[in-house]
Amino acid sequence: MSEITKNSILNTIKNVQNPDLDTDHLGLNSIKVFKLENDVLTLEISIPSKVETINKKTYEQIVDSIKKEHTSLKEIHLNIQTSIPTVTNAKDPKKDVLLPGVKNTIAVASGKGGVGKSTVAVNLAVALAKNGAKVGLIDADIYGPSIPLMLGVDKKPRTIQTESGVKLEPVESYGLKLISIGFLIDDNNPVIWRGPMASGAIKQFMSDVHWGELDYLVFDMPPGTGDIQLTLVQTIPLTGSVIVTTPQEVSLIDARKALKMFNRVNVPVLGLVENMSYFIAPDTGKRYDIFGSGGGEKLSKELTTPFLGGIPIDPRIREGGDKGIPIVYDLEGSKEAGIIMKIAESLNEQVNIRNSSSKGKVEISLGDD
Ligand SMILES: Nc1ncnc2c1ncn2[C@@H]1O[C@H](COP(=O)(O)OP(=O)(O)OP(=O)(O)O)[C@@H](O)[C@H]1O
Ligand SMILES: [Mg+2]
Repeated sequence: MSEITKNSILNTIKNVQNPDLDTDHLGLNSIKVFKLENDVLTLEISIPSKVETINKKTYEQIVDSIKKEHTSLKEIHLNIQTSIPTVTNAKDPKKDVLLPGVKNTIAVASGKGGVGKSTVAVNLAVALAKNGAKVGLIDADIYGPSIPLMLGVDKKPRTIQTESGVKLEPVESYGLKLISIGFLIDDNNPVIWRGPMASGAIKQFMSDVHWGELDYLVFDMPPGTGDIQLTLVQTIPLTGSVIVTTPQEVSLIDARKALKMFNRVNVPVLGLVENMSYFIAPDTGKRYDIFGSGGGEKLSKELTTPFLGGIPIDPRIREGGDKGIPIVYDLEGSKEAGIIMKIAESLNEQVNIRNSSSKGKVEISLGDD
């Protein structure tokens, strides 16, 4: 008899054919409660649905399919939350023109420079791709494009002929499609960008690049909250943003400013990531809160923004950046990679919540009768 796990239950539900339900888009995150005790399964699951209220027949269909697959179960208490997908940005005419095949666009931003925004953007993008999403990454940092280095990319994109004309083909690395402002400029002759130039370049990265179908297009933003950054966030049709901060007050002040900037242009802040949260000495295992502790979580409460997680300082994260192999890829299975994978899952969940409006919550328990 097969073991009853979250995964096995998820797979069973994914196979349920019902026109009211969109089971294709279920992930482990969709299972909100999973409790198995004495062959009694208590399950709460969030399913994207085309109807507001799930009828009894649909419940029975799901419960029956679980029972059929796992005959040892005596009772199943199933609670379904439905969410009706209303992809917010799909209605944004700017996005339809610029990025017709892209489902979600995320800006990774920080008020302050050097807090690890690019490191977080790269690792989150790779983590989302590892979780099965189709992901693109735009390095929009006009001050210091660093993503090609962090992903070990040294070739430039080619141009290709497509149905809609000649386009730039993004460079592929670690399952991501990448375009960087660094591809346009010469390292030794830095360009001084002005707002319109920067937004013109980013517009081209959206419309003149052959992105194809993507679940996520992540933008690594230049640090700061000045005119250029504001122009950029107005140029990109954004699903939402992720703000990266370190725990100390000087960084938190700038994170607050970044949040205000996104509020000003009505871009939802999907969550806060605290980077360089602490350091665990490899020889003693002792924790050092180098930049203080709890700042990110406190700020997320103050700003009522989800806290997506805290990433420790780890020399291997820096080394990964320098040698062009992101830690989620290089040290798969490490605690640090696990933390970043979790943050990607939480981000994905926030995006799903944004893209759906949670509707009815109906509960049904079906015993063995
Ligand atoms: N958690 C971490 N542990 C160790 N090193 C880190 C961590 N996060 C970032 N770094 C290192 O800190 C440096 C700055 O990080 P990064 O370039 O990602 O910051 P940034 O916010 O994008 O900077 P900028 O504002 O200049 O764009 C890099 O050398 C990076 O490898
Ligand atoms: Mg950067």
